[in-house]
Amino acid sequence: MKRLEKLYEGKAKALYSTEDPDLLIQYFKDEATAFDGMKKGIIKDKGILNNKISSRIFRMLEAKGVKTHFVDMPSDREMLVKRLRILPIEVVVRNIAAGSLAKRMGIDEGIPLKETIIELYYKSDPLHDPMINEYHIKAFGLAEAGQLRQMETASLKVNRILSEFFNERGIILVDFKLEFGVHKDEVLLGDEITPDGCRLWDKVTSEKLDKDRFRRDLGKVEEAYQEVLRKVLE
Ligand code: TMP
Ligand code: ASP
Repeated sequence: MKRLEKLYEGKAKALYSTEDPDLLIQYFKDEATAFDGMKKGIIKDKGILNNKISSRIFRMLEAKGVKTHFVDMPSDREMLVKRLRILPIEVVVRNIAAGSLAKRMGIDEGIPLKETIIELYYKSDPLHDPMINEYHIKAFGLAEAGQLRQMETASLKVNRILSEFFNERGIILVDFKLEFGVHKDEVLLGDEITPDGCRLWDKVTSEKLDKDRFRRDLGKVEEAYQEVLRKVLE
């Protein structure tokens, strides 16, 4: 299936139409941004690494009963996906305190949480993705109550599956961000699952294997993404 018209270009990916109105091609770029696009760079071959990592993970989640937009990986940088009406909500799932949670609560990174935390953010670049809760979602009609329930249930299921998947490969799943959309009245997991939107720490050395290496100028960014791909393919 060929890429036709570019419908949208984001910071790390572009979306193209195909000859099938129900299917799009998600094209993975090497561009990396952080802090709302304030920091920009290129991670060599990130598009290829992220497409392969995400495709492997989506295939695995589908096999375990999670409904995703993934259809196929036709080339190194292209993912064939079902067309979604993206719900403007980012779901962040956290197992261990890190990043903005550690900052907000005034605690050190690395403290395990007694319970998994789900956070909801309003997906809006001009507003810098403000945190919201289920009341905001209902009051502003960002998603129906049933859709929100499905998103939360699916997010917790993805957390259980992915935590075990990474743990078996020597990696701790600290936190991650998911996006969902509607395809033919069904809520499907969309976007990507890659080191751009997950925190992944080496179980033995605690070394960061994710975009924090880029955000915090820790070096060896591409190497970390390559290691994640290697482990994900084990
Ligand atoms: P945070 O600690 O900065 O709130 O990030 C939590 C998780 O969500 C982390 O794994 C990175 C991911 N994330 C995104 O994918 N996109 C974003 O815009 C932000 C802020 C976080
Ligand atoms: N991707 C977001 C940005 O470009 C935030 C992040 O991942 O840090 O700002």
